Order: sequence, then structure tokens, then C-alpha cells
Amino acid sequence: MNNSEDIKDKVIDGKSIADRVEKGVKEDVERFKKKYGCAPRLATILVGEHPPSKLYVRLKHWACKRVGIDSMNYKFDENVSEKEILSLIESLNEDDKVNGILVQMPLPPHIDALKVMGSVSPIKDVDGFHPLNMGRLMQGDESWLVPCTPKGVIEALNIYGIDVQGQYAVVVGHSNIVGKPMAAMFLNRNATVSVCHVYTKNLVDYTREADILVVATGVKGLIKKDMIKEDSIVFDVGITWEDGKVYGDVVFDDVVKRARLVSPVPGGVGPLTIAMLLTHTMKAAWKQKEREET
Ligand code: GUN
Repeated sequence: MNNSEDIKDKVIDGKSIADRVEKGVKEDVERFKKKYGCAPRLATILVGEHPPSKLYVRLKHWACKRVGIDSMNYKFDENVSEKEILSLIESLNEDDKVNGILVQMPLPPHIDALKVMGSVSPIKDVDGFHPLNMGRLMQGDESWLVPCTPKGVIEALNIYGIDVQGQYAVVVGHSNIVGKPMAAMFLNRNATVSVCHVYTKNLVDYTREADILVVATGVKGLIKKDMIKEDSIVFDVGITWEDGKVYGDVVFDDVVKRARLVSPVPGGVGPLTIAMLLTHTMKAAWKQKEREET
């Protein structure tokens, strides 16, 4: 038995799935340009000097460039006022050339992140964070814009042909960006769902029963082999930066011995998130044009 071959078959290769998605988006961008004579455009807003956020925004712009989406970044000092951010968003909402708006999270504590999320026009909300889009998701309507990271997990499950109906899905972490929308997406597909978090007693009692486990806590190495179910599917959404290196919430080398599939960090959920952002930017762009035409 070749051990490294065995492991290879168990890796959820986010990069190769993202490459496939990007190919489709690139064709879609061409169709859009042909029809409307201009490229779709994404605007990002970055506040402060948080190194991971700076890297993520850079990766998002590179991805846009690869597929032909125009993109621009508005960079602000850590001390920028909430008013200034809200007024920029208002002008981007009104700018017909801008199809998608993304405010990189986290924001500094003096800025009300929920207020900012709620100020982005729902039709340009490529992150799916606006309460209207979140509300639609909670009601089972995912035909609008939904958060990119959980959508990336669903995309990977689809590509691997995994039907979540009737499965026990456990989400560790209850953030607005990942945990809550992830749970909603599983529920919308008739999984049985538990959401665990930092106050959950006996976390292992849940994780060990999970057919599908999604971990998004930012606690390096939280999940080990003895905490998962045999043959389960594990998505590692956590990111911890230490001495210029990136670590997930899952001890990959250990967990891969028991799991059926595991997403690595890096190269797992990260590329999927960016691929979903590209598809959402296209979706938003087409919807806006349709609306203009009617
Ligand atoms: N910070 C961490 N993940 C995300 C994301 O998906 N979107 C935004 N805007 N910020 C994030």
C-alpha cells in the first residue's frame, strides 16, 4: 500500500476545483463583455494593516485579473471614520460601472461591521453579508448572493458527488461570515445540523459524530484524529498565521488517517472562497444589467 497515494486521494484540492470554476467564469466574462462592451467590475475596501487581510485582498484582485474582471481597491488607514467608509459605499452603490462591492473583514472595533454590511446595496453584495441576502438564505432561497466561504464548501461537496441530505453536519464556529451561513446551507439541503462554538461543552461529543465537519475557529490544531468520525469529510476553514506560516484548525497529517476527505490549509477552502467571489461578481453584474434593461 502506497501511503502518499492514499493520502492524495483524500485531499480536497481546492486549488484544482477553483481552477475549473475560474475557467467557467472567464468564459462568462467574455460573454458579458461581448454583450455590454465593458468588463464587470469589483470594488474592494481594505481598512488597516492586518497582514492576512492585505494578502487576501491581493489574492482576490489577482484572481479578478486572471478571469478578466476589472477590480479596484480602496485602502484606508486604521483610523478612518465609519462615516468615510459609509460614504464611499454609498457612492459605489450608485456607480453603474461597479458591479460588486466587498469590504474585507475584520474591521477595526470603532467601525460597526454590521452597519457596514447593511450599507452595501444587496444587488452588489458579492459577500452575501447584507441582512436581506442573509435573510433569503435563512428562508432557503440561495438564488441571490450568499457568503463565499460556505458556498465554496457546498461547491466542493457537489463536485465530489456528496449528497448532504440526512447526514449529520457539525459546524464549529458561529461567525456571521462562515458558521451561521454554513449551517443554513446544510439545513437548506436537509442535513441534520449542530453549530458548536467556544462555549460548547464537550466539543468532541459533537465532532466525533459528524459525517461532515466544518471547522472555522482560528484555533490552530484544534481538531485531531481522535475527535472525528471514521470516514467523515472535514473542511478546515481556520487560519492562524505564525512566523509567516499559515496553519489550519485541523491537524491535517493526523486527521487524514481517519477521514474520507480533508481540506488542507493552505490550498483547500481559501481558493474556493475566491472562486465563489468571482462567480458572485458575475452573477451580480448580470442581474444589474437585467434590471437596467427592464
Ligand atoms: N474575512 C474573512 N473572510 C472573509 C470573506 O469571505 N469576505 C470578507 N469581506 N472578509 C472576510
